Amino acid sequence: MTPTRVTVQGAKPYDVVIGRNLLGELPGLLGERVRRVLVMHPASLAATGESIREDLLAQGYEAFAVELPDAEEQKTAQVAAFCWQVLGQSDFTRSDAIVSVGGGATTDLAGFVAATWLRGITVVHVPTTLLGMVDAAVGGKTGINTAEGKNLVGAFHPPAGVLCDLAALETLDRWDLVAGMAEVVKTGFIADPRILELVEEHHEELREWRGAQTTAETWAVVAELVERSIVVKARVVGEDLTEQGLREILNYGHTFGHAIELNERYQWRHGAAVAVGMVFVAELARLAGKLSDDVVARHRDILTSLGLPTSYRGDRWEQLLAAMRRDKKSRGDLLRFVVLDDVAKPVRLEGPDPTLLVAAYAEVSKEPPTGRPGVTVALG
Ligand SMILES: NC(=O)c1ccc[n+]([C@@H]2O[C@H](COP(=O)([O-])OP(=O)(O)OC[C@H]3O[C@@H](n4cnc5c(N)ncnc54)[C@H](O)[C@@H]3O)[C@@H](O)[C@H]2O)c1
Repeated sequence: MTPTRVTVQGAKPYDVVIGRNLLGELPGLLGERVRRVLVMHPASLAATGESIREDLLAQGYEAFAVELPDAEEQKTAQVAAFCWQVLGQSDFTRSDAIVSVGGGATTDLAGFVAATWLRGITVVHVPTTLLGMVDAAVGGKTGINTAEGKNLVGAFHPPAGVLCDLAALETLDRWDLVAGMAEVVKTGFIADPRILELVEEHHEELREWRGAQTTAETWAVVAELVERSIVVKARVVGEDLTEQGLREILNYGHTFGHAIELNERYQWRHGAAVAVGMVFVAELARLAGKLSDDVVARHRDILTSLGLPTSYRGDRWEQLLAAMRRDKKSRGDLLRFVVLDDVAKPVRLEGPDPTLLVAAYAEVSKEPPTGRPGVTVALG
């Protein structure tokens, strides 16, 4: 498979390379000045991290590695401080670099450490989850959590490059693949109808993700979905790095989704919460007279076909509303949503009539969430 390259524009343009067996691309992305590299990976990806470190050693770099706690456990100030200690003790200078190997939690933490060490050193991301490839690793948002909430501390620090080796998805848990698909579907609804068609045609193989046993045809579909999603994200963040305008469209479904995540104390996967969030804003747009019944039904059909939830319990409105008001995307008291006029026609809806919000909530809490037993548990 010949690698595909997507360039993200901005003050320092960089490439996202998508394909297989991409390690040979790493030096080109790191640039000529780098001598020392710290490979950061969670324990679950020790073998991949070590083979990348050995490859870098063989290519003449001084290469070190740190093993991180898994998932959200690594996105803490304590883990960041440990990484700063390793960088300090290994004499990392402004011209050295970090390579992150892992899901979105790892690219967020490693990006944050790179943003803060000596006020910013080079980072190259090697995302290993679908969500990491299509979302977290591209765009330069980095961050860690605090006791008060998720992603409250962070920096915009675009990488020098991103390597999406699709082979990493072979070992990915089925529900991590499906949760990542929620962001792919989001990208389809806001910007690329072909993504929606591909998911409609291939939802069964995607939902029943079989990792290394995946057929060549399905791999081709996954590659196209990853590429198309990255093209959209690259275009959006290339125009608006710091979320002043266009980048807001990437938050489609996220305001309500974040409220669910908070209400569920982060026991739901992000993608599952965003799936319900998309149905909520689709209903909101329909009730506001913007979106047709057909496109709302298409949201439910596609997400359900992947095994993603489309409804939420009906007794949490006050908590969800309070969480949406506190969401960092809100401005003051005014609730803001990205909604659709049609597929690929996102618009902003500011301060919608509260009765519409309640009615949209009623629509997403109509179906019993236990309609497909085990789904929310499996996605948790
Ligand atoms: N910066 C951004 O723009 C942005 C965007 C979206 C999400 N995020 C962040 O991304 C994080 C979620 O990302 P995620 O879903 O990738 O979670 P994650 O990084 O926690 O990975 C999920 C799980 O998959 C495991 N894993 C990773 N790669 C694997 C592989 N190839 N095979 C088998 N297991 C593997 C991990 O060890 C982990 O247990 C959140 O912290 C979220 O805040 C950031």
